[in-house]
Amino acid sequence: MQAPTPGANGSALRLAVVGKGGVGKTTISATIARTLARRGRRVLVLDHDSMPGLSTSLGVQSADEPLLNAAMQQGEDRRYRFVEGLDPISAAQRFSIDGPEGIRVLQVGKSTIAGPDAVQASVNAFYEIVRHLEHAPQFSGWAIVGDLPAGGRQPGCGWTPYATHFLLVVEATWQSMLTARRIRRIADDIRPDARVSLVVSKAAGSADVERISGFLGMPVFGVVPLDDDVSSAERVGVPVFEQAPGSAALAAITSIAERLDGEQHEPAPARSCADRG
Ligand SMILES: Nc1ncnc2c1ncn2[C@@H]1O[C@H](COP(=O)(O)OP(=O)(O)O)[C@@H](O)[C@H]1O
Ligand SMILES: [Mg+2]
Repeated sequence: MQAPTPGANGSALRLAVVGKGGVGKTTISATIARTLARRGRRVLVLDHDSMPGLSTSLGVQSADEPLLNAAMQQGEDRRYRFVEGLDPISAAQRFSIDGPEGIRVLQVGKSTIAGPDAVQASVNAFYEIVRHLEHAPQFSGWAIVGDLPAGGRQPGCGWTPYATHFLLVVEATWQSMLTARRIRRIADDIRPDARVSLVVSKAAGSADVERISGFLGMPVFGVVPLDDDVSSAERVGVPVFEQAPGSAALAAITSIAERLDGEQHEPAPARSCADRG
């Protein structure tokens, strides 16, 4: 592997992108990853979702069969273990695939018509990997962007221990705001030292932004406008980066990514108890 490009203080962005289904997590994750890669960062994208989506947004092939299946074997006790010669980190290196601009993408594996059993080995491998990434020297200095499935279940069940920063993506619907409030509590519970930053997605105007920020009692880190170019790109199955490079949503996410990257060079702002709500 190439030498990583660490930030000035040697730290790197470790992000989990969370929120209700359909709010724009995958679009945002893919665009952040590409922006970081263009800025010279080594980037590992973790596709936590067993539903397709990220591969299209990023422009990578989705394997028919979960690649990580090959990393595991099942013992007589029916427990999954890494095959001989592999451990969680070497499996992440071997079974991640090349994305655009040098990004590496590790997929939990997509559900197939063969049913959930067909991804069990891969799911077990992925779970072990995410739990070993934070301090792995092989990924020291790498930015990690985790694209989570809908809701708080995965963060609440230990799938994001690598994340020191949660990007809470929220659109102006009740369900999205309620889900966000729940996920924020989970993030505070599981990792009180992590940052949680609010991104308002699909914003139709400033009223949306104020409503969400007021409801959650959080400052707004970034706003991504509602943008037909994103849905048009989705319809033709092409990453918005290629389909609509001049789109307003892309510009907004790029600027969020640049700020996230820039902040790695500065100490994180202290969070007070009141701030955690
Ligand atoms: N800023 C936006 N403006 C308009 N449509 C968007 C925007 N962001 C995402 N979408 C659309 O919303 C749908 C869900 O987006 P996606 O990124 O897959 O969300 P999630 O990963 O949270 O489920 C997709 O059809 C996508 O094209
Ligand atoms: Mg998604």
